[in-house]
Amino acid sequence: MSVDLRTRYLGLELQHPIVASASPMTGSVDSLKRLQAAGVAAVVLPSLFEEQIEHDEMATHNLMLYGAELSPEAQGFFPEMENYRTGPDQYLKLIGDAKKALSIPVIASLNGCTPGGWTSIARQFQDAGADAIELNVYFLATSVDDTSAEVEQRYIDLVAAVTQQANIPVTVKVAPYFSAMANMAARLTKAGASGLVLFNRFLQPDIVLDELEVSPHLVLSTSDELRLALRWIAILRGRVDASLAATGGAHTPDDVLKLLLAGADCVMLASSLLSKGPSHVGTLVRGVEAWMAEREYTSVAQMKGSLSQQSCPDPDAFERANYMKALKSYSSEFV
Ligand SMILES: Cc1cc2nc3c(=O)[nH]c(=O)nc-3n(C[C@H](O)[C@H](O)[C@H](O)COP(=O)(O)O)c2cc1C
Repeated sequence: MSVDLRTRYLGLELQHPIVASASPMTGSVDSLKRLQAAGVAAVVLPSLFEEQIEHDEMATHNLMLYGAELSPEAQGFFPEMENYRTGPDQYLKLIGDAKKALSIPVIASLNGCTPGGWTSIARQFQDAGADAIELNVYFLATSVDDTSAEVEQRYIDLVAAVTQQANIPVTVKVAPYFSAMANMAARLTKAGASGLVLFNRFLQPDIVLDELEVSPHLVLSTSDELRLALRWIAILRGRVDASLAATGGAHTPDDVLKLLLAGADCVMLASSLLSKGPSHVGTLVRGVEAWMAEREYTSVAQMKGSLSQQSCPDPDAFERANYMKALKSYSSEFV
């Protein structure tokens, strides 16, 4: 029996739900081509960071100020402000080159946390050919003066600013640390987000004892991390008017299947591709297909969300009741 693995994400039709998440593996045309050849359904480019844009603009501004003090002859060597592409040209070139080289959708990623002029780059992403924009809002509210209402408004303003710039779909990659995640998800979609990418994986710093130093410490994920996205996708499926992408901890066909059953429209991979290489996509697609055929599912559309909170026989499983059950069921030989 053949299984129809197609899915829709942000209005884009994908041949199956497995997407390459933003990582160094999506950062060059060569590796993007390898990912496409390995069968990935879409790619998210590594992020262009707010800081890179602001830095570029500042550098150009300084150049212009300096240029203004030069003789007219010397000034001729400086480009006109409006003609000078102050934006991060390399990134826009990557979008254009990726679009030329690939037939699968290309999602460009913008990463920032403060509303400001930098968000206008979204229009250039669109003009460069991006099929969609992933806006990664990576913000740590470390000030004791920042209230949760202010922090939430910052997200909403950012999403509104980016979606106003671009006519292509914008999906928002957020952290799970909101007091009211479901409400926040609904507000993000009302502000213009066509999708949500759940969740941003905050990289926690570590202390290196030998050096007495705080280090950024990037470790790749394991399947244990999957359940955070699993729970929230299951809760949000059917409750928000947005595509849902899962990111964080998908490594095996079972991981992908669980996220689809919870209600993910697509499953994004970074760590598993970085550790196992692009050919791992094929292993996942074949594994998902085989399991679905064995269970007599005919399509991803049929299976998607069948264990979301709204559809599953035990909605409490996603709530506090399950937490109490889990604590009570723990047994150890030492207790
Ligand atoms: C080395 C590395 C670089 C990454 N770069 C980006 C990035 O530029 N933008 C972004 O939104 N996420 C970035 N991520 C996060 C991934 O896209 C992904 O959301 C996260 O790693 C969780 O998925 P995983 O468990 O499949 O790794 C990066 C992850 C890794 C490991």
